[in-house]
Amino acid sequence: MSATRAKPKYYLTTPLYYTNGMPHIGHTYSTIVADVIRRYKRMRGFDAFMTTGADEHGVNVERSAQKAGKSPQEYSTEIAVQWKRLWDDLGIAGDEFIRTTDEKHHRTVQWLFKRCRENGFIEKGRYTGQYCVHDNAYVVDAGPGDLCPDCGRPTETVTEENYFFKLSEFQEKLLEFYAANPDFIQPESRRNEVLSFVNGGLKNLSITRTTIRWGIPVPGEAPHVFYVWFDALIGYLSAVGGPNYDERGLWPADLHLVGKEIIRFHAVFWPAFLMAADLPLPRQIWAHGWLLFDAEKMSKSRGNVVRPRPIVGAIGIEPLRYYLLREIVFGQDGSFSYDALVTRYNSDLANGLGNLASRTLTMIERYFGGEIPKPAAEQRSSADTPSTADFANEALARVMHLYDRLGFSLALESIWEIVAMVDKYITVEKPWALAEKPEDRARLATVLYTAAEGLRMVTALAHPVLPQATEKIWKQLGQTEPLGGVQLDTLSWGQLKPGTKIGKPEGIFPRVDKSETIARIEAMEQEQNNPPAPPAATAASTPAGAAAASAAAAATKIGIEDFAKVEMRVGLVKTAERVAGADRLLQLQVDIGDEVRQIVAGLALAYKPEQLVGRKVVVVTNLAPRKLRGVESNGMIVAASLPDGAPVLAGFLEEVPVGARLK
Ligand code: MSP
Repeated sequence: MSATRAKPKYYLTTPLYYTNGMPHIGHTYSTIVADVIRRYKRMRGFDAFMTTGADEHGVNVERSAQKAGKSPQEYSTEIAVQWKRLWDDLGIAGDEFIRTTDEKHHRTVQWLFKRCRENGFIEKGRYTGQYCVHDNAYVVDAGPGDLCPDCGRPTETVTEENYFFKLSEFQEKLLEFYAANPDFIQPESRRNEVLSFVNGGLKNLSITRTTIRWGIPVPGEAPHVFYVWFDALIGYLSAVGGPNYDERGLWPADLHLVGKEIIRFHAVFWPAFLMAADLPLPRQIWAHGWLLFDAEKMSKSRGNVVRPRPIVGAIGIEPLRYYLLREIVFGQDGSFSYDALVTRYNSDLANGLGNLASRTLTMIERYFGGEIPKPAAEQRSSADTPSTADFANEALARVMHLYDRLGFSLALESIWEIVAMVDKYITVEKPWALAEKPEDRARLATVLYTAAEGLRMVTALAHPVLPQATEKIWKQLGQTEPLGGVQLDTLSWGQLKPGTKIGKPEGIFPRVDKSETIARIEAMEQEQNNPPAPPAATAASTPAGAAAASAAAAATKIGIEDFAKVEMRVGLVKTAERVAGADRLLQLQVDIGDEVRQIVAGLALAYKPEQLVGRKVVVVTNLAPRKLRGVESNGMIVAASLPDGAPVLAGFLEEVPVGARLK
C-alpha cells in the first residue's frame, strides 16, 4: 500500500559522491541545483524530498585508505562526514544523506540482486578484460596496454569469475521504454547519445568482484562483493525505504540529476536493473554539463580544482548559487571564473535586487512612516501600474515555465527583467520629487506601492535560488508567512496589503571590491590548502593531509635524535584575539616560562578567544618565525584534529609548571 499524501510527492536525487576526495565546485553545483529544484517544487505544491549521499565502496576508496594507513570504513567515514557537513554548512536542504555503507543500503542491494536472480537475469561467468581502476569500470574492446578512453589512464588486465547481469536481454525493452517516455533522458543530446549506445547492442555486465574486499558481500557467495556501480545506483532506492519502498510512497524517483559523464549508468544500467527486479522505473534522468576551469574539467590531477568553502567564506553562499544558476546554461558546460562571479554579484545582486529593496523600503519608511501605502487607482497613468502589473504577471508565468524545464538561467533573466523594470519605473517617476509636493501624495503612494509589489513578486520568484536573502526582504516587506511555504500558483499582482507595517530596511547585498574579494578567496584557498594550524591539526585537518601524514609516518621512522630536535614546552595563554579577515586564526600571547611569545594558531573554529585565556597549552618553541595574514607567529600550538578538521588542544591532567619541557 502506498502512503497517502496530502500533497503530490516529488523525489529527486543528486549523484552519490565518491569518498576518495573532497567536494569541489562541480559537486557543489549538482547539489545546489538539486536544492533549488526541491525548494521550487515545494513552492509549487509538492511534497519534495531530496536525497544526496556518499558512494563509499570500490577499489579507489580501498586504495586511498590503504595509503592513509586506515581501514576503508574509517577512512571513508571521515570523508563522508565532511561531505555531509559541507552541505549542511551551505544550507542545502537535503532530506536524506544515504551512505552506501549504511546497513539499510546493504540489505537493499542484496534484496534487489536476489530479485534479479530469481527472475533469471543473473548468471555466473568468467571474465577477462581491461579494467579502469579510476572509473571502476571494465573498458569494453580494450586490449592489454590500452588507455581508458574516459580518463586516459592505463587499464589493467583482470580475470575473474563473476556474476553477470544479463544486460543484453534488455536492449529491446529499453528502446521501447525510451520511445514510450521521450522525456526520460534529458537533454536531447544525451538522449541521442544513449539511444545510439543501446542501438549498438548491449553486452552482459559483470556485477560482482572477487579481486577486491571493500564492497557489499554477495549473500552466500564469498568472496564476491558487488561491483560499485551495481551497489551505488541502488542507493537511490535504499534512501526511501529499500525493500519497503511502497510504504513511504516516494519511489519511483521523479528526477535523477547527474553529470553528463555518468548518464549511461543511470539511463541504461539502472532502468535495466529495476526492470529485472520488477520495480518501477524513475521518471527522468537529467544530465548537466561540466564546470570547466581554465577550459578544462576540474580534476585533482590537473590541479585546477576550485573548492566551495573559500568562495563562501569571502562572498557568501547565495552569490555563488546565483552565479552558478544564472551564468551556466543548465545542460551545457560552463566556465567557472572568480571574475565573473564577483561581476555578477555586484551587477545583479548588489546594484540590482539589493539596491531595489533598499531604495523602495527606505522611501516607504521615510515618506509613509514604514507602512505600505494605498495605491490611488484614479491617478494611474498609461506608463503606470497596469503595465507594471501585466509585465510582472506575465513574467511570473514565464518564470514558472522555465523553472519547470530547469531553464534556470533564463528564469533568472526573466526575474531580473522585473527588477530592471521596477528600477526604471522608480527612476522615471522620481518619488523623491513627488514627496516634495503635498498635491502629489496620492501619486507617490501609487509609485511606492508599485515598487514594493514588484519587489514582492521578485522576492518570491527568486526564493528557490536565494533562499536566505529573499526571506529577509520578504520579512522586511512585512510578510509574516514563511516564504518557502508560499505557493507560486497563487501569487499575483496586487496581493500586497496597504497598511502593512514594514520591517527595518537593512542592506542585503553590499557592493564589494572585485580585486579585493578575489584576493580574499585566494587567500582562503591558500589557508584551506595549507592550514596554519599546529602540526597535528595541520597535517590531519584534511583527509588528504591525514592520508599523507599517515603514509609518510608509516614509510619513514625517525630516530630519537630527530625527535629531540623539536622543542616543546608548556605555555600559558595570556591573551587571545581574532585575526581580522581570517575565520580560523587567533593571535595569542603565550608565556613559555622565560618569555612571552606571539603565536598565530588555527583554533578559531573550535575555541573562542576568551576560552583560551589562562589555559595551559603545548607549544613547539623552536620553529622559525613566519607571518600569517601579516601577523608574525613565533611557535605552534599542538592539537589533535577531528575528521572535519576542528582542532582539540593537547593538555595535561596533572598540574605542570609553565615552561616545562616535553620529552
Ligand atoms: N559515485 C559516482 C556516482 C554514483 S551515483 C549512484 C560518481 N561520483 S563523483 O564523486 O565522481 O561525482 C560525480 C558527479 O559530480 C557528477 O556526476 C556531477 O554531478 C558532479 N561533478 C563532478 N565534477 C564536475 C564538474 N567539473 N562540473 C559539474 N559537475 C561535476 O560519479
